Amino acid sequence: MCGIVGYVGSRPSAGILLEGLERLEYRGYDSAGLALSEGGAQGFSLVRSVGNLARLREAAGHRSSSATVGMGHTRWATHGRVTEENAHPHLDEAGRVAVVMNGIVENYRALRAELSADGVHLQSETDAEVIPHLIARSYEGDLVDAVQRVTARLEGHFAFIAAHADEPFRLVGARRECPLVVGVGDGEQFLASAIPAFLSETRRVIEVESGEVVAVEAGETRIWGAGGLRTGAPVRVDWDQGAVERGGWESFMLKEIHEQGAALRDTLGGRLRPDGSVDLPELGLRAPALARLRRVQIVACGTSYHAGLAGRHLIEEWAGVPVAVEVASEYRYRAPLVGPGDLVVGITQSGETADTLAAMRLARGRGAHVVALTNAPGSQATRDADGVLPTRAGIEIGVAATKTHTAQIVALALLALRIGRLNRALDPDRVGALAAELLALPGLVDRYLASPAAREVEAVAARCAGEGFFLYLGRHVGVGVAYEGALKLKEITYIPTEAYPAGEMKHGPIALLSEGTPVVVVATDGPVLDKVLSNVQEARARGARVIAVATEGNREIAAHADDVLPVPSSLDLLSPVVAVLPLQLLAYSVARERGLNVDQPRNLAKTVTVE
Ligand code: M6R
Repeated sequence: MCGIVGYVGSRPSAGILLEGLERLEYRGYDSAGLALSEGGAQGFSLVRSVGNLARLREAAGHRSSSATVGMGHTRWATHGRVTEENAHPHLDEAGRVAVVMNGIVENYRALRAELSADGVHLQSETDAEVIPHLIARSYEGDLVDAVQRVTARLEGHFAFIAAHADEPFRLVGARRECPLVVGVGDGEQFLASAIPAFLSETRRVIEVESGEVVAVEAGETRIWGAGGLRTGAPVRVDWDQGAVERGGWESFMLKEIHEQGAALRDTLGGRLRPDGSVDLPELGLRAPALARLRRVQIVACGTSYHAGLAGRHLIEEWAGVPVAVEVASEYRYRAPLVGPGDLVVGITQSGETADTLAAMRLARGRGAHVVALTNAPGSQATRDADGVLPTRAGIEIGVAATKTHTAQIVALALLALRIGRLNRALDPDRVGALAAELLALPGLVDRYLASPAAREVEAVAARCAGEGFFLYLGRHVGVGVAYEGALKLKEITYIPTEAYPAGEMKHGPIALLSEGTPVVVVATDGPVLDKVLSNVQEARARGARVIAVATEGNREIAAHADDVLPVPSSLDLLSPVVAVLPLQLLAYSVARERGLNVDQPRNLAKTVTVE
């Protein structure tokens, strides 16, 4: 949720940290701060501000510091309101210890009470502030020791960076579940929540494992884990720097919408052959076990859950295996009937979503084979799973997920095809035909995004941008698309939406309709199109203004809708990939009409590492 970054080297750290925070801002952007290690008696200079990084830059610009060691934080508030006092870094009372943290200290109430009883005056309402006070009290001349002792007392999941003024050229980090990586430079080192924070400076990375403590100095990294001290060997990452920059695009979201063809191509790349054979070596399940699967459960949150809804149709219809799709935050607190012989797919683009991770662990504990469908290689989800089903969408910065969503659907289609081929639910001719449909998808997506139809979405958006409520409807595979379209709109425009299976509209939501209410309906060609159109009539009869996503060339739709958003023809089970595109663009254009920042929608963060 929050982003943390630290730097130890020989260059002035403030600018480097601000740049690192800018690359992490997608993780949270309600307030931010820096602590710069001025050395010895001077301790730390602290600058914090409410608002996004532009504010912090401004505040930091008024101070001059040549400190070559420091840490920074960009916050998504969990404990305590968005105020300067609650912004990180936090210091101990004497100002000798500085800490930035991402995650949650679950036993913070007890720890705060203990500190208060000992006469410590806490300055903020946060859980994180207990850490510098506890470190100060444990400190006996070695920050690593103090951090190890304090970490053992903390419950929850977190990653933090600590510094002590008596050891001014050293940063110590600790991680439990939340990510922390070391960037190894030339005589300088970085510690951060994610690689983009230092990608412009170095590509040599050491992953810190959950439960480890790491100390970085300008020329050295040491890591302590369960097995004692280890010197991590850096691995070179070949990420494209352009992926973490907007390039010429006006926002990350728009850039990422247009990267969807490439994301699908890369996700399919080398895995699917024209004869329909599918290679998924990271699944960790051999062919006989896949052929014998009893059932599949999919757990996910938000947009990833919506991809799971498309996946259910694909796996049930292509592989003939029953599928349940569940919201991870509910699943984890049920007593799900799951066990050996079941495949559980946790879908999480970030690989960090706390609820999805918990649901995956629960299923694994009960003996199911758990696979992480993720866009983040090496993420916690991949470590908590028996196998991985990767998407290769490239890093996604926009808070509203777009390219990772369509890539997830394609990855689920690969899984469905592989199972269906192995358990012979599909005959060889059909396998080949489905492979051809899947391989055609990236081209369809590219063609649509470059077409006049995609540009025409702007005009539709301009006509409805002033509305106060939207209803989204779909049936069959269109339901997940309707949910996703509605989520996109509410996330980045703040307009209330309702999304429903179209057949259910008459059981309640129809009461929401009045003259001119925009009803966005997913009406692509498929077995239920006639049923959808009947539901559209019911809405129109109540004065609704219908915006229909339809298959290009379908002449019937125009008679049923006020606006038609045509998309290329595809296999109906794969149509969620193309049908969601105009809905992403519609949300985007409405937000633009309203002058909103689509990359930093209010109250949201890209990764949700708290439950
Ligand atoms: O990283 P994940 O896929 O696990 O994230 C799940 C949701 O938090 C995420 O999809 C969220 O709903 C997005 N903001 C949607 O645009």
